[in-house]
Amino acid sequence: MTKDARQYDRGMWLLEKFSLRRLRRALLAQVRGEVLEVGLGTGANVPLYGAASRAAGIDMQAARLSGAVNRAQGRHGRLPLLIAQADAQQLPFAHNQFDTVVSTLVFCSIPQPERALAEIRRVLRPDGRFLLLEHVRGQGRISRRLTDWLHPAWFALQGECHLNRETASAVRTAGFQIEQISAHGWGVLQMMQARPESG
Ligand SMILES: C[S@@+](CC[C@H](N)C(=O)[O-])C[C@H]1O[C@@H](n2cnc3c(N)ncnc32)[C@H](O)[C@@H]1O
Repeated sequence: MTKDARQYDRGMWLLEKFSLRRLRRALLAQVRGEVLEVGLGTGANVPLYGAASRAAGIDMQAARLSGAVNRAQGRHGRLPLLIAQADAQQLPFAHNQFDTVVSTLVFCSIPQPERALAEIRRVLRPDGRFLLLEHVRGQGRISRRLTDWLHPAWFALQGECHLNRETASAVRTAGFQIEQISAHGWGVLQMMQARPESG
């Protein structure tokens, strides 16, 4: 596992323990069939792909993917998992290939989210499901002000992560119907299940 992957996991440890792990478990309980995860990172979701028959995961950063390789080879590694360095905005997969697409904490940093959403819609089967857990623009009055206020400094410091994206609206605009949506973490995290709109 690379230093970058280890540092990422260490940095996320507290959040994972007190919030994310529980949310990931709830989200991933809905996985079925052939699964694609975009922005796989160090593979925190890999042990939770319970009902998947096959899985593929892509990420822009090869260094992060080393963590996912480790997890896939661990005790949960009986599932066939293809791991590749690729851009979510240009997915190297055929039309209608997947039953489930997963993204967790990814749409904050994709440069052109609408391109990635169009790609996800392309590779997802018409009866497939798109599962997201994303940090977003605050949903309450105070959290919205706070994410808007913090965003410029955070982005300048961090370089890629947007604190105030309206991901649910972008998902709808891309031609998905959101079937379930819930807010967590004082309204700055949203968990969604969406399906492609017919037609
Ligand atoms: C905050 S990490 C989240 C990783 C993992 N999904 C998780 O839940 O722990 C965001 C990840 O999205 C990846 N990413 C950002 N933009 C991407 C893109 N255009 N295509 C593929 N991966 C991307 C980053 O490289 C990074 O690993």
